[in-house]
Amino acid sequence: MSDESSRTDLLWETIQQKEDYPIFRLCYLSKPTKPFTAEDLDDIESKSIIANNERDVTGLLIVNDDRILQILEGAEDSVRNLYTKIEADSRHTMLKLVSAVEDEVRLLYKWSMVVRGLAGTPTKLLEQFTQVYDELLAAEPQAEISIDHVDLFREIALFDTLPRKV
Ligand SMILES: Cc1cc2nc3c(=O)[nH]c(=O)nc-3n(C[C@H](O)[C@H](O)[C@H](O)COP(=O)(O)O)c2cc1C
Repeated sequence: MSDESSRTDLLWETIQQKEDYPIFRLCYLSKPTKPFTAEDLDDIESKSIIANNERDVTGLLIVNDDRILQILEGAEDSVRNLYTKIEADSRHTMLKLVSAVEDEVRLLYKWSMVVRGLAGTPTKLLEQFTQVYDELLAAEPQAEISIDHVDLFREIALFDTLPRKV
């Protein structure tokens, strides 16, 4: 699938979703206090799926060695309350709030939380992720994350579940 067509698909899917309230999208970066194991990721994912579903929060969490990136979407108070809890979690440190903005659409409406460690991810996606992460880390706080970024993170999060190209 070309970049252009996947972007169009993402926009087309999202504009069909009607929300009852403005969507607040928050993106932050952090570093693990000590390396996350597969069990850590499973634990965060299984608890987040239930808790986020109750709060009507969706998003994704990508962990690559010492790089953590999470996007949370939902009603502003739900997202901010959850972020306050996540900020206090001793499993990670050096949080940097990249962006916190209102939007008309929820871009990650299908997942209460997808957690993805990057072992086994193709080199090209890993390099793209590392580059975008480092750019966001260096950028001014509140920089808007672009739909291209969200699209890349979605592709990474979904990598294992998509049929492989032959
Ligand atoms: C990187 C990272 C991401 C997390 N993401 C979520 C999340 O999306 N939803 C959630 O409920 N907990 C998430 N947690 C766990 C929370 O920090 C916290 O442990 C959890 O909300 C349980 O809090 P409680 O037992 O006080 O309710 C995350 C933790 C870490 C380290």
